[in-house]
Amino acid sequence: MPPIGLDPHSPLPPQQQLCRLLQQAIQQGQLAAGSKMASIRALAAQLGISRYAVLAAYEELAGMGLLNPRHGSGYYVRINATPPRQARPAHLDQVLDVALLIRGLVEPNNLLKCGSGALPKEWLQGLDLHRHLRSVAARPGANVYCYGSALGYAPLRDVLQQRLARRGIDCSAEQILLTAGSTHSLELLIRCCCATGDTVLVEAPGYYNLFSLLHLSGMAMQAVPRQADGPDLDALESLLRGGLRPRLFFMQSLLHNPTGSSLSWSKAHRLLRLAENYDFTIVDDDIYSDFATDQAPRLANLDGLQRVVYLSGFSKTISSDLRVGYIAAAAPLLQTLARVKLMISITTSEFIEQAIYQVLTHGHYERHLTQLRKRVGEGQDSMRQLLSTCGWHTFAAATQGMFIWCRHPAGKDSLLLAQEAAAAGFWFAPGSAFDPDHQPSAWLRFNVAYDTPELRAWLSTI
Ligand SMILES: Cc1ncc(COP(=O)(O)O)c(C=O)c1O
Repeated sequence: MPPIGLDPHSPLPPQQQLCRLLQQAIQQGQLAAGSKMASIRALAAQLGISRYAVLAAYEELAGMGLLNPRHGSGYYVRINATPPRQARPAHLDQVLDVALLIRGLVEPNNLLKCGSGALPKEWLQGLDLHRHLRSVAARPGANVYCYGSALGYAPLRDVLQQRLARRGIDCSAEQILLTAGSTHSLELLIRCCCATGDTVLVEAPGYYNLFSLLHLSGMAMQAVPRQADGPDLDALESLLRGGLRPRLFFMQSLLHNPTGSSLSWSKAHRLLRLAENYDFTIVDDDIYSDFATDQAPRLANLDGLQRVVYLSGFSKTISSDLRVGYIAAAAPLLQTLARVKLMISITTSEFIEQAIYQVLTHGHYERHLTQLRKRVGEGQDSMRQLLSTCGWHTFAAATQGMFIWCRHPAGKDSLLLAQEAAAAGFWFAPGSAFDPDHQPSAWLRFNVAYDTPELRAWLSTI
């Protein structure tokens, strides 16, 4: 077995590091086909990690078809372990790194998720979801055995239609498609609106999993710099004048991830004019919508869903586990999206949609939002104060969202910072993850809900 060195400062947990190193060793022929792997106990002792971590890495490699578990004997390198590098398209390697990053966030480890994109569960528990789930399950009409309907649970779509109307977005309930979260919405839009090789616009920095989804589908991404009041429209206009013809622009009007910034009215109008003149569609990802007011500038209420496709969901304010999101779009596009949804996931869970409906209609959701907004606002104030005392530079003024995008006073590379943070017990995604080309970056995304004395102490030392 080749020597294996785990990095104690890596933001990745040991099992993921080990899995990647062993995967490389197998693919590069350093571990011969048919050879027996070190025992779980021996390797755990050698590396100073838990046996569980080694077992998890071996199981992952078995799932990838690289190891063969033999009952009572151990794990063996598969004879015909086809190197996945050749078995899968090359562009997957880059997106799998992002998958590992997300895994570090969602899997249990001892790191405090200071860079997380979500609020801690303690902040959401006031909704008492368990009670709502039990009450929906107890109803005679609860759908737990059969497929739901194509567009999704109709009463929930009616409620969403009313909520959108309050934001000035007029559409019918038939123009709303329920999805299994915003990731599913993005995936459906990419599949329905783009062909391989099309150019799409993305914001830089922007949401890293969007970049991965676009990579997976073979799209060419053109970055538009994000500024504190929205995308840099001078830069966009000069690209368009230079002949760029994008199919879509994936952006966020409100509480943008990772910068927390929101679009100004003047930019909203100018952006819609550019979309009209150069014939592209804007996907407005409004996942942080419920933290903002109904009157905030949203492209969809200026445009009436002509050039804009609107998406949002409940991962940030109700549950990221229940997986409920939605798309509102012009009727013809919505029909296409609904048909593709039928193909790739048949339906979404009607039972869960009934639970979200129950929360929205009987669950004091508005009161919950008021409390969340208050806590997030207080978090913004105190975290900003702390960062400013420590000399950090922030990207945008205080917002209603959970993020602060900021730079270390000495401009230190955020990958190094993320590694140092992991060694001290804190999880951050390096700023480079938010760049479509993974360029080195000195910026880090802080989540204001994770302001602890330990984080404060660490920040004052770096
Ligand atoms: C901008 C943006 N879009 C989409 C998502 C994915 O949301 P969901 O959990 O609903 O799939 C996130 C999650 O952090 C996000 O920040």
